[in-house]
Amino acid sequence: MTKFSVNDRPVEYRMDPETPLLWALRDASNLTGTKYGCGTGECGACTVDIDGEAIRSCLVTIAECEGRFVTTIEGLSRDRSHPVQQSWVAEQVPQCGFCQSGMIMTAAALLRKNSNPSDAEIDAAMTGICRCGTYPRMREAIRRAGRVIRGEERIAAAPPPGIRPDDAARAVPALRPAEGN
Ligand code: FES
Ligand code: FES
Repeated sequence: MTKFSVNDRPVEYRMDPETPLLWALRDASNLTGTKYGCGTGECGACTVDIDGEAIRSCLVTIAECEGRFVTTIEGLSRDRSHPVQQSWVAEQVPQCGFCQSGMIMTAAALLRKNSNPSDAEIDAAMTGICRCGTYPRMREAIRRAGRVIRGEERIAAAPPPGIRPDDAARAVPALRPAEGN
C-alpha cells in the first residue's frame, strides 16, 4: 500500500509499488489530463509536479512518491485561474493539445522558482516535445504568465471549457435572476 497526496487529497494505492505514477494517476485515479506519450522520459507529456519540481511521471514509481505531494493538471487550479493557464488560453498556445498539460505543469514549476526567466532559461526548462511546434507560443505565454505573477499584467478569466469567449459574454445576462425574483 502506498500513501501520498494527489491534488491536496490523501490517496492510498493498493497496487504494485513499482507501478509508474503515470498509470496510477490515469488508471486508478482517472486523472487522464496527464498523458502517456513515450513511457521513456523523452516527451514530457506525462509531467506532473512533485514537491514543487516538474517530474516525468512515467519514470517515477508510486513507491518513490510515498509521503510526497503530487499535483496534476487537474489540481493546478480549481477554475483554470492559474496565470499559466490564463496566459495559455490568451496566447492560444495549444494545437492538438496532447503535450500541453505536461508543458503547462513544467512552465508552472519554472515560474514558481523564477517569475522572470530569460529565453535561455525557458528553453532549458521546457524540454518536452511538441509535435505541433507550438514552442514560440509557449515561450510567449510563459513570458506573459510571468508578467501576471509579477503583478505587471492582468488577464481576464478564461470561460468554462467548451464555451467560446463570445458565447460566454452573451451567456452572462441569461445567468442573472429574472426581474422580480
Ligand atoms: S510519457 Fe513520460 S516522458 Fe513521455
Ligand atoms: S500541441 Fe500538439 S503535440 Fe503539442
